[in-house]
Amino acid sequence: MKNILKSLYRFTLKRLLRLLGFEREFSFALTLAYAYAYDFKRYYSWSKTREVRLSQTKLTGEIYEVAHAIEKGLALRGTRVGFGHEKVNYLISLITSYKKLGCKPDVTITMALEVLEEYISFNKQNNQQFSAEEEAIAQIRNSHSFAMITKDREEKNNKASDNACIRFGGTKMLFKNAILEDIKGQFPTLVKARHSVRMFSEECVDQRKIESAIRLAQYTPSSCNRQTWRVRTYSDKNKISQILEIQKGARGFIEEVPCLMLITVELQFWDSVNERYQAYVDGGMFAMTLVHALTYEGLATCCLNLSLEPKRDRSLRNLTKVAPSEIFIMIIAAGNYLDTFSVTVSHRRSLNELMMISDLTR
Ligand SMILES: Cc1cc2nc3c(=O)[nH]c(=O)nc-3n(C[C@H](O)[C@H](O)[C@H](O)COP(=O)(O)O)c2cc1C
Repeated sequence: MKNILKSLYRFTLKRLLRLLGFEREFSFALTLAYAYAYDFKRYYSWSKTREVRLSQTKLTGEIYEVAHAIEKGLALRGTRVGFGHEKVNYLISLITSYKKLGCKPDVTITMALEVLEEYISFNKQNNQQFSAEEEAIAQIRNSHSFAMITKDREEKNNKASDNACIRFGGTKMLFKNAILEDIKGQFPTLVKARHSVRMFSEECVDQRKIESAIRLAQYTPSSCNRQTWRVRTYSDKNKISQILEIQKGARGFIEEVPCLMLITVELQFWDSVNERYQAYVDGGMFAMTLVHALTYEGLATCCLNLSLEPKRDRSLRNLTKVAPSEIFIMIIAAGNYLDTFSVTVSHRRSLNELMMISDLTR
């Protein structure tokens, strides 16, 4: 069937299109549609949107995402007592599914339990009891197979050479002076000094620092040096909150944000089917350099997701007047540090989960 269709196309339609002068356009549309269908199939089959409780990897992703939503709530200025209660129950149910699936207790669960325990303790301190949830969490921690997580954590804490307490989930306190020291040191200290900050001082952001950071980010490598990036900066509070209302990921700290940078990529630089996602790669690389450059300039940042469905994409375009030929990459919220502030722990998984040594010579 596939071969019949191919021959039909080659010997009839293709000739006709060539005669009419549309062959190149039609062939581009067809191969592009096929490429999107190919990607659609992979994403539809493999993303965690479906059957999240049936695969350890999908469950791990979901547990990290939900736990992070809770720790993020705990890291805000003026965290609301009782916030995200339904997420807590959902997270408990995910841990139960993880166990039911036969997954061994590991750092994912340790991280989730630490987030849940900080949530319970924060609410308790504010006279809000969640007895049922507290009991469920204690049961998970105490249950035979999950008890070893605590042991594992304690062992790691004891081994920590700098005597630092290894935390897997929840929030931690940072100090402006220590960060300002770290960013002027070696590259590793700068990278580690960067955190997603969701509370800022009221001080105005020095536009020269933003400009220096963008200048530095221009040194990001780009495909064929096309430098397709665009950055729009906003400091008007009203405009910032309108943008963030559409973005939706800054709920709870919209009023905090003194400066926004909207990163887009111009599609008119890209060519053919194989470059259909290149804008996201180049845009993402630019955004990362910019975040590090802003950190170097002594500014606190938070990356904000801009993967929008068509309705919000259109609303943001109307508001920001971004051309239809540009795609949204992400937003960076930036501002000055408070003297002390809290951030999420945002635990990093172990190296062997992501690094594979592929020795092809063997
Ligand atoms: C592309 C991208 C989108 C993000 N979107 C949001 C967001 O909408 N809201 C938010 O509070 N944090 C957002 N973050 C921040 C992440 O939650 C954060 O980077 C992660 O937890 C790691 O923590 P760290 O940045 O403190 O190291 C985003 C980060 C990236 C890279």
